[in-house]
Amino acid sequence: MVIVYRSNTGFTREYAEMLGKAEKMKVYSLSQAEGTVSEPVFYMGPLMAGHIAGIDQAMKQFTVKGVCGVGMSPASPQVLGTLSKANYVPGAPIFYLQGGWAPKKVSWLKRRMVGMATKSIRESLRDKGSRRTPEENQYLDFLLHGGSFVAFEKLEAIREWMKEV
Ligand SMILES: Cc1cc2nc3c(=O)[nH]c(=O)nc-3n(C[C@H](O)[C@H](O)[C@H](O)COP(=O)(O)O)c2cc1C
Repeated sequence: MVIVYRSNTGFTREYAEMLGKAEKMKVYSLSQAEGTVSEPVFYMGPLMAGHIAGIDQAMKQFTVKGVCGVGMSPASPQVLGTLSKANYVPGAPIFYLQGGWAPKKVSWLKRRMVGMATKSIRESLRDKGSRRTPEENQYLDFLLHGGSFVAFEKLEAIREWMKEV
């Protein structure tokens, strides 16, 4: 199995490279992989409005054995549930990793789309004022200014699964 990824602002690439290094697997961007990869694939892509970017292309061209979406929200069973419903790949498990948010690297239109999607959570965090926990302060700052939650430890579940296949 090899890792194929797509990444717009670099967070998915970081995870793909970390995973490839840890599991001694080859790592290709989706464009590099096109026409060259014939092995089964673990596909990783950024979340865009709930959809894993590039997943349709990957499914058409490769045998996809596992999928991972990289988004900006903290991992939770709800996030994974919604993700699995919107990005069904027959016979392949789906994983979720919290990546980051890089507002300066995306167009104003995309920034606005994300701004609208995160409006209610920003407002509820703002309304909490001094009752915000340190984690909530950190998350509010992340939503406003961007940042990274990429961490090697978050790859644990994927690495466990890879040992079994
Ligand atoms: C237009 C747009 C839509 C997005 N939609 C989602 C989303 O539905 N859920 C989510 O968790 N993150 C969403 N994000 C955030 C990205 O998935 C997140 O920043 C991710 O880490 C980007 O990965 P990349 O650096 O590999 O491109 C969105 C970002 C953009 C620009």
